[in-house]
Amino acid sequence: MHTSEKLGYEQKRQELCKFVKKNYVDAFDLKPCTMLDAGCGDGFWSEIFNDLGFSVTGVDISPFEIGAAIALRPDSIDFHVGNVMEEMPFDSKQFDLVFARTLPMFHEADLTRANRLIDNLRQYGNYLLFSIYNRPDLGMQGHLYHYIKDDYVYLLDSHNKIDRVKEHNHYLQIGFRCDT
Ligand SMILES: C[S@@+](CC[C@H](N)C(=O)[O-])C[C@H]1O[C@@H](n2cnc3c(N)ncnc32)[C@H](O)[C@@H]1O
Repeated sequence: MHTSEKLGYEQKRQELCKFVKKNYVDAFDLKPCTMLDAGCGDGFWSEIFNDLGFSVTGVDISPFEIGAAIALRPDSIDFHVGNVMEEMPFDSKQFDLVFARTLPMFHEADLTRANRLIDNLRQYGNYLLFSIYNRPDLGMQGHLYHYIKDDYVYLLDSHNKIDRVKEHNHYLQIGFRCDT
């Protein structure tokens, strides 16, 4: 089963669309622009941004998820199989915005890979927006480790470019300038 099917996103599409508008677009003053959805899964969130006027490219390591994305989403979205931790088939600074939602690198008991992820993604865009499922009250849940917000803020701030941090329910959003 692909991600949005597993998580029942389609049934909550209207609600999730409002979530994107309020907590991503308005909260970070995003204007329609070129965008990379890094770790896009089956492209559910890519499609919402596409509907809001963004020009979206999605990338995911899973050929299964990308196959579903190509089958399910509008042709205007370009999907690729690729590894967000390594070189990807995009130009340096190709995108105005790189968006990465609920990627596993933020939930490992050592933030080294999250650091590597940031270093890699920043090459491809001018602004990076992370949305992290954040339940520090749960500590270790299954294979997911939950940090307190300060750990993520410290990590991002160590790159000296943090723009703003917002929280909504159990999601932590961090916007990060990577224009240099
Ligand atoms: C929890 S899902 C989130 C999918 C989507 N971003 C969302 O919020 O619904 C994590 C996604 O990250 C992808 N992923 C994990 N490691 C990756 C990597 N190194 N490169 C690209 N995608 C990766 C997985 O295949 C999966 O689709």
